[in-house]
Amino acid sequence: MNKTVIGVLASGRGSNLQAIIDAIQAGRLDVKIGVVISDNPEANVLKRMVNYDIPSLCIDRRQFSSRQDFEAAIAEELNIRHVELVVLAGFMRILSRYFIDRFEGKIMNIHPSLLPSFPGENAQQQALEYGAKVSGCTVHFVDEGMDTGPIILQEAVPVLEDDTVEALADRIVHAEHILYPRALALYCEGRLTVAGRRVYITDKE
Ligand code: GRF
Repeated sequence: MNKTVIGVLASGRGSNLQAIIDAIQAGRLDVKIGVVISDNPEANVLKRMVNYDIPSLCIDRRQFSSRQDFEAAIAEELNIRHVELVVLAGFMRILSRYFIDRFEGKIMNIHPSLLPSFPGENAQQQALEYGAKVSGCTVHFVDEGMDTGPIILQEAVPVLEDDTVEALADRIVHAEHILYPRALALYCEGRLTVAGRRVYITDKE
């Protein structure tokens, strides 16, 4: 069977992309990364890519007069690379209906909280300030909302008494690095079915 081709969109550090690459290299994930796109020319994720034979490029929002033109440029690049699943890994922009229509049901995101708690930016800080005893991470399909799409997998981590935002973020991102490759594997094995808000996971044959 042909490998699913994924396209990764990332704006920053790129540790989730690294975890995906590591999972592929370790034989835990059978996908091909067709392209890595960042909207930030300075992003560390692009620096990581010099070590790998994977196409990577920057599509800078500032070079487009409208959001739609910007998203069209991303969509075109993904299509040129025959991308079947768009993987958001720290991509710091909300995608519009225009983009989502082009990849309906084929966009995943990872968020550093147990959704629907603490959507949006600074999720770890939100969890600490709220006084939550448990937080975690969520992989979900993307819809037009802010971190609102159907949930695929979640992993809980404790919030400790002496936690700082950084300590909690480290604990959560460690869980992310395990969860995201697992969610991608489920998708690529054809084991995810979406019915309304619910994502059903079928057993391995
Ligand atoms: C992660 O915490 C992820 O949950 C959020 O953005 C962060 C990206 O980190 N969406 P990295 O760039 O993958 O290291």
